[in-house]
Amino acid sequence: MGETTVTESAVDRTGIAAVGYRAPVTTDSVIEVLRQSLVADPANHGVRIHLAQLLHQRGDHAEALAEAATVLDAEPDNVAALRAAAAAAAAAGEATRATAYQRLADALDPDGPDDDGPAPPPEAATAEPAYAMAVPDTADELLEGWTDSDAPAEPELGLLSRPDITLADIGGLADVKRRLELSFLAPMRNPELRLQFSKSLRGGLMLWGPPGCGKTFIARALAGELGASFYEVGLADVLDMYIGSSERNLRSIFDAARRNRPCLLFFDEIDALGQKRSHLRHGGAAMRGVVNQLLAEMDGASSDNEGIFVLAASNHPWDVDPALLRPGRFDRSVLVLPPDPEAREAILALHLRDRPTGPLDLKALAKATEGLSGADLALACEQATESAMEASMLAGQVQPITQRQLTEALRTIRPSIAEWMETAKNYAMYGNDSGAYDELSAYLKRRRR
Ligand SMILES: Nc1ncnc2c1ncn2[C@@H]1O[C@H](COP(=O)(O)OP(=O)(O)O)[C@@H](O)[C@H]1O
Ligand SMILES: [Mg+2]
Repeated sequence: MGETTVTESAVDRTGIAAVGYRAPVTTDSVIEVLRQSLVADPANHGVRIHLAQLLHQRGDHAEALAEAATVLDAEPDNVAALRAAAAAAAAAGEATRATAYQRLADALDPDGPDDDGPAPPPEAATAEPAYAMAVPDTADELLEGWTDSDAPAEPELGLLSRPDITLADIGGLADVKRRLELSFLAPMRNPELRLQFSKSLRGGLMLWGPPGCGKTFIARALAGELGASFYEVGLADVLDMYIGSSERNLRSIFDAARRNRPCLLFFDEIDALGQKRSHLRHGGAAMRGVVNQLLAEMDGASSDNEGIFVLAASNHPWDVDPALLRPGRFDRSVLVLPPDPEAREAILALHLRDRPTGPLDLKALAKATEGLSGADLALACEQATESAMEASMLAGQVQPITQRQLTEALRTIRPSIAEWMETAKNYAMYGNDSGAYDELSAYLKRRRR
């Protein structure tokens, strides 16, 4: 099948040469370009899923399934890959596998496939899909379908993964890395030393700062450093979805972490637990119960927390319940600031690392992008990559990403942290009696110069 593709796209290219002005963009030529770019960047899951969808549309279901499965090997909870795999498996006649993929996808993403998901195969549009008729009716059959998928234990309460990134993958932020090494990684790695200095391991660490500057990314890298599973829980979601049973859910989150140790448990949006009563859809008393439950779970007295590392993050530390910040709780905090020029250069390099690029002057780009967050820079790299892919499809062969495409992409990005800085400035100026915002004040002063 692969050979046909190459021949057909070669014909296309000959066609361009003969006609001389425009390459026809056919499914086959897109498939060919996607394949070529995967040779340069095999870990690009987005591209591989797109390839699987196109192969499926073309009728190469087994091949589509193999591509989707490759993504799932690396990232078992990738919903788009699960849906592509379910559709391809159903069309390839592998009903049990299709059911298992489908169920996992639905569990992870109950709202169903979004608009840009794979189109259903033509035959499934009229008839009932094959996998819908093959729902297993015994537990054994169901389990059989699940055996080759690394299903997270409690997908509805968070996402469990095994990060393969480390601190070295984080661009710049030398100061933050040093502090994390000293206050978190070193004690975790040296239990004896820790005992000698009788530094308790109880409690957790809170990362705070503007959105998109790497808090979640850093938390994943810390799990990678420790060789631990990473269990990410969006607290605001848990509270919203499970009004009235939040305490029980916190308990099962910790239980899931204990089953998967070593495990780094990451509570994103920890401020959701301490929001002022007025913004609250839940009563203050109920929230107090959740906070107490969290403290009880963290305090290993009632349960065994060996190998459980608790981290939290917040964009709004001023909303965090003060009870959570007392000694023995989230008593260490690390401010994750917007990237400086070196960090920006490293972030750009990181996000272009596995992509085909022409000669680039990243230093110049980094210098010109003061005020952009890591997420803003990552987005610009995505946009430049899309432009280069479009150019590649038109040319029928891989066209590397150019300086110009990056400059253009960066120009269209609106800095996403300006608003955060305004709010934060007020807290640093008027709410800093405890000194909690000293580091932020120092940063704001440096920036004014
Ligand atoms: N220092 C950094 N190095 C590399 N990538 C970064 C860095 N900071 C942010 N990013 C990129 O921006 C994205 C968003 O960062 P994230 O960790 O989700 O921000 P936050 O959790 O602080 O809102 C990351 O997935 C990553 O691609
Ligand atoms: Mg985050």
